[in-house]
Amino acid sequence: MKGTNLNQIGITFKGCGSFVPNQNLSNEDISRIVNTSDDWIKTRTGISNRRIASFDENVSHMGYQASLKALEMADWPVESIDLIILATSTPDDLFGSAPVIQSKLKAKNAVAFDITAACSGFIFALITASQYIQSGSYKRAIVIGSDQLSSYVNWKDRGSCILFGDGAGAIAIEANQDCNNFYGFQMKTDGERGNFLNLLNENKEGSIVDNVNFRQGNFSKISMNGQEVYKFAVREVPLIIKKLIQIAEISSSEIDWLILHQANQRILDAVGERLKIDKSKILSNLKNYGNTSAATIPLLIDESVRNKKIKTNDLLVTSGFGAGLSWSSALFRWG
Ligand code: COA
Repeated sequence: MKGTNLNQIGITFKGCGSFVPNQNLSNEDISRIVNTSDDWIKTRTGISNRRIASFDENVSHMGYQASLKALEMADWPVESIDLIILATSTPDDLFGSAPVIQSKLKAKNAVAFDITAACSGFIFALITASQYIQSGSYKRAIVIGSDQLSSYVNWKDRGSCILFGDGAGAIAIEANQDCNNFYGFQMKTDGERGNFLNLLNENKEGSIVDNVNFRQGNFSKISMNGQEVYKFAVREVPLIIKKLIQIAEISSSEIDWLILHQANQRILDAVGERLKIDKSKILSNLKNYGNTSAATIPLLIDESVRNKKIKTNDLLVTSGFGAGLSWSSALFRWG
């Protein structure tokens, strides 16, 4: 497999963790607020339940809890973390929530910052962290995906409110001189189609003094063209995965697990079919959590490692996709 030679510093995967809030919102609950049904939601999306952050839970709390578990599995002293990257589109502080997590962890030697790339965020953050490690800049990194979309869902829009939930996942990766388990990645963005999925600032115009205008306001609610996003995902995700595995010189039959951003079961099935990857290799937990944006991939990896589906040395191909529009893929071995 290409990418396994150690001209550069290798990367190994040392731990994972996740956190979901206790509050559950079922399809039945949603059918009490909009005109829908459990049957419709299940058939069209595969989702039955999602978790909703309560008043005392937010992105940094969820990300901290997930990171603690990843750190415990990696068995690292907290002072040894060099880098914390938080993928989120719903930070509790627009200036950055990663530093809040750094402070909660007491990871005083780490630099911490946020990345915003919606549902592609976790894979974008993982790729970013991989570059710092492979360049020799940092040795140990915690990569987190944490999102609280419930705060931005339009709970009156049945076309979108059925999809989203809250949660967090984290992964611990480190530099390794003798072994490389991170084989490669692909990233794409198409801002031309960005209006298919937005969470815009609802700025209102005003003036500070005469002749000096300004805008101020809050973020509005998620706006989505579901059909276009669906078509985008089913078309682009197989292509970006195919390109990655072609460059890495592996065949799809060598892949142990296909880990896709958990958006819709029909998207997962369609991507698997186009890649000719057996259904038994496509991991899914969106029935329980819905689409938790940047959290879906690390949350799914963590659950699958802990229930012993994903084992050491298993080959994983992952893809995040969503607003931007943005999409990505990463190929790595667990462990
Ligand atoms: N309950 C019942 N009916 C619903 C409904 C709901 N929750 N949401 C939409 N409908 C209706 C529509 O109004 C429409 O009715 P009409 O034919 O009378 O006009 C009908 O169902 C079909 O709507 P459509 O939008 O074509 O449904 P769909 O099969 O595309 O499913 C989504 C809608 C949102 C589930 C689907 O498009 C999807 O999942 N897209 C991807 C979204 C996504 O993953 N976003 C995040 C990416 S990171």
